[in-house]
Amino acid sequence: MAAGARAWFATPLAELLAARIRERGPISFAEYMEACLYHPEHGYYTRPQSQPAADYYTSPDVHPIFARLIARQLAEMWECCGQPEPFLVVEAGAGAGRLAADLLDFAAHTLPAFYAALHYSAVEISAARREAASRRLGRHLATGRAALAATLPEQIPAGCILANELFDAMPVHRLVVERGELREIYVGWDGARFIEQTGPLSTPELREYFAMQNIALREGQQAEANLAACRWIEDAGRRLGCGFLLTIDYGHPAAELYDERHLRGTLLAYRRHRATEDFYAAPGEQDLTAHVNFTALEQCGRRAGLETTGFVSQARFLLALGRAHGFADLYEPGQTELDQLRARLQLKTLIFPEGMGETFRVLIQHKGIARPALTGLALF
Ligand SMILES: C[S@@+](CC[C@H](N)C(=O)[O-])C[C@H]1O[C@@H](n2cnc3c(N)ncnc32)[C@H](O)[C@@H]1O
Repeated sequence: MAAGARAWFATPLAELLAARIRERGPISFAEYMEACLYHPEHGYYTRPQSQPAADYYTSPDVHPIFARLIARQLAEMWECCGQPEPFLVVEAGAGAGRLAADLLDFAAHTLPAFYAALHYSAVEISAARREAASRRLGRHLATGRAALAATLPEQIPAGCILANELFDAMPVHRLVVERGELREIYVGWDGARFIEQTGPLSTPELREYFAMQNIALREGQQAEANLAACRWIEDAGRRLGCGFLLTIDYGHPAAELYDERHLRGTLLAYRRHRATEDFYAAPGEQDLTAHVNFTALEQCGRRAGLETTGFVSQARFLLALGRAHGFADLYEPGQTELDQLRARLQLKTLIFPEGMGETFRVLIQHKGIARPALTGLALF
């Protein structure tokens, strides 16, 4: 850059990150992504003007049937645990509270005994999104059935931890194999723009991560490692006394995630419903997300006593639960034919392979219960 010339910064966060790199040298991609998503002032999820719905939608946004079928699965989990009171449902990464609101409304109306035992904690790291959730959850907050929090409860004696699209929003390390050696991708600054450069691993945990899953990457292959997800699930599992962890997310078992179909990794940037590989276009103003490694979640969960109950596609999970009640939960009393048709189309988005049905997977883990049988896993 010519003396006196000043780089053009796409966003205020880009300027802060460039300054950090100039001062301290290149940062790991995980550090870059953490700032892009969760910088207290400028993070994609944490900034006050955060509007993720403008960039992507999630299953709870499609139709309340998603929340209603999960409510049924949670009620059955409560029964498996011997109907304890309270039964704590901890939704981690609750966002703006849509899943929580639809689930609690349905439980209050249709599953009254379960609702009476339920304590729902909507845990969300972003204060802006907690604020939005508090508006949606008004009546359940007022009756004490629900609460909002920034962190997980210390102890969950009996209950279920629920995570819909939590792990895909965690920062990942990026790696590449160069001349037979596993190297890490760092983010540098060349005076005008962010650049990627490789270097030695920032932590030995990265090598252990791939070794524990028996994964050997190919020459030139790029891959992500979500160490944050591993730490999170181990910590969450330790807090759980007896109950379940229900994860819904897009991703794969490790053998698929790192196979020849994913030689460039799975990381994508999302902005206004368009996916790109330009991770540096608008730091803090676009979503960054990578596919979830379900094998790692199972292995790291086991360290905290979480056993795998089952792993199915979202389609199988929702179909098994819906079929048990003839899909009656899809409709509202007094709906017109047209509204019912619309509801059926929305259900198709959730279950069809070209929609969310096969890319999204459901992992259920349990602790302190012997061999639970769950309806959501019945088609497995
Ligand atoms: C992709 S969004 C999904 C939101 C919601 N579950 C849904 O399905 O619409 C991920 C959410 O997880 C939150 N989040 C990420 N890490 C978290 C953590 N450790 N604890 C609580 N919330 C977290 C983010 O702020 C964001 O609101």
